Amino acid sequence: MTIHEHDVVVVGAGGAGLRAAIAAEEEGADVAMVTKLHPVRSHTGAAEGGINAALRDGDDWELHAYDTMKGSDYLGDAPAIETLAQDAPEEVIQLEHWGMPFSREDDGRVSQRPFGGLSFPRTTYAGAETGHHLLHTMYEQAVKRGIRVYDEFYVSQLAVTDHDDPEDRECHGCVAYDIKSGDVVGFRARNGVVLATGGDGQVFEHTTNAVANTGDGPAMAYRAGVPVEDMEFVQFHPTTLPSTGVLISEGVRGEGGILYNSEGERFMFEGGYANNAGELASRDVVSRAELTEVNEGRGINDEYVYLDMRHLGEERINDRLENIIHLAEDFEGVNPIDEPMPVKPGQHYHMGGIETNENGETCVSGLYAAGECACASVHGSNRLGGNALPELIVFGARAGHHAAGRDLGTAEVDTGPSARTETEDGLDTPVEPGALDTPDSDVAADGALVEPVELVERAVERERARIEDMLERDGTNHAEIREDLQETMTENVNVFRREADLKKALEVIRECRERYQGVAVSDPSRTFNTDLIHTIETGNLIDIAETITLGALAREEFRGAHWRQEHQERKDGEWLKHTMISWNDGSPELYYKPVVLEGENKEYEPKVRSY
Ligand code: FUM
Repeated sequence: MTIHEHDVVVVGAGGAGLRAAIAAEEEGADVAMVTKLHPVRSHTGAAEGGINAALRDGDDWELHAYDTMKGSDYLGDAPAIETLAQDAPEEVIQLEHWGMPFSREDDGRVSQRPFGGLSFPRTTYAGAETGHHLLHTMYEQAVKRGIRVYDEFYVSQLAVTDHDDPEDRECHGCVAYDIKSGDVVGFRARNGVVLATGGDGQVFEHTTNAVANTGDGPAMAYRAGVPVEDMEFVQFHPTTLPSTGVLISEGVRGEGGILYNSEGERFMFEGGYANNAGELASRDVVSRAELTEVNEGRGINDEYVYLDMRHLGEERINDRLENIIHLAEDFEGVNPIDEPMPVKPGQHYHMGGIETNENGETCVSGLYAAGECACASVHGSNRLGGNALPELIVFGARAGHHAAGRDLGTAEVDTGPSARTETEDGLDTPVEPGALDTPDSDVAADGALVEPVELVERAVERERARIEDMLERDGTNHAEIREDLQETMTENVNVFRREADLKKALEVIRECRERYQGVAVSDPSRTFNTDLIHTIETGNLIDIAETITLGALAREEFRGAHWRQEHQERKDGEWLKHTMISWNDGSPELYYKPVVLEGENKEYEPKVRSY
């Protein structure tokens, strides 16, 4: 049996994973990245518009923090939001020093543009390929530092001890399917495992996310006893191409692009959706406006609206948005220099994820998470455009430094079931976190402590047996289950949500879970078995879909990206709290924890949110 040993093991090698690995290496740790894709194939490469950071005179981190808190509809935690805003400038300057080819002004300064929901044009960018350049810049740093990359290793289990209380559990490593050899191998992490597995957009049919974005990190952490937080908050980006879901950057609107309906009306203003910001209102507002136009008969082909940038002129488009020309031509057959682009909302980002504090720690010791798979609670119920890339590098760096042993001070955000909300009647909803799905005691029958490496070995044995079983038995193919899951999520858990639809989705998800018990892999090969990988991923998608839907059904209010037909107002008295979901022997348990609105210099007062 192969067990690789390192101080820090980072799972995933996109923006957050690379930054975490570099940070751990800076601390002198022996660090490795274990990833199902080659690092530069990671989905961070698809990020287009830019990175928010307060870099210029007239801007400061407090303005950035305020915009982010308002964008979150007051469901973000102030310590995490302020950390994001404070650390982002230094991280962006660091990228610049590492050679990231940012777009520049004539005087040589790095360019910044307006983005939705920002009170200052603070979105720093590299054309409309910011994520691509960020990924390559950091990969160069990883290569330069000799950081070990195990690419084409699909991590499918964590090796975690089985104490009753998740807050007593420890993570000692993980288990991966080696795609090239077909072997199942272990990774022992002496200091910590950092999950940086990215998004889970494959829960939906129409998404900007890559096929690899299947929520592997959140699903593994959840089954190991870490709560997932605010899962009902899913971002639908207003400008995706109707036939494929390919993203058309908010940078188009940042540069002056306009949206109009079938009647030629600039509806963001004329329909009164956002009288001040218009097209640059936050994404939740713009997506709802577009769908309202379509539902009320002012859409084109009953499906989409137009995004027009012709008036910007060819020279400016080529200079700042060249990538958009290729995307619109290649994926929709439209030349945006001469024609408006058809656009509609599509799943883009998940605000919810693995509960962490500002240092990237989860409640299981030795287990960290950063980037989209995590919920450090910077985005609350709605993320602002341009805030995902700083999140990756700020919290990736913090998780990497902390895992490698740097003292980042005591976190202000509490994690784990003990952080739940106290109510007059006692604790909000009783939670019995239950056993792990892969129990492993670190105490042997004779009472002696089991060596961590032995726990990893046992996890490998169990995973080998599970995989062999899936390969050898007859049963249902995962693809039928995945299709039904994506269809019900797209139909019933989208921008506009209704109780009956959410209940219907939950029923389908639970049927999918039942059917998944009998899942089998059709391709018997041991090597390069993508059918096997997709089968395991589908199991993860079921967990993610269930937690999104449960959180959405329970939250009887309208906040940020979560709109409920029966509850069309924000209810701060009752709902200013985070939804937490814990795994309880296969069934989810809901509870809530308070939102932290107390910042470094002020308390953020929830206000009416308009743009
Ligand atoms: O629209 C965009 O370019 C996407 C940016 C983001 O999600 O932050």
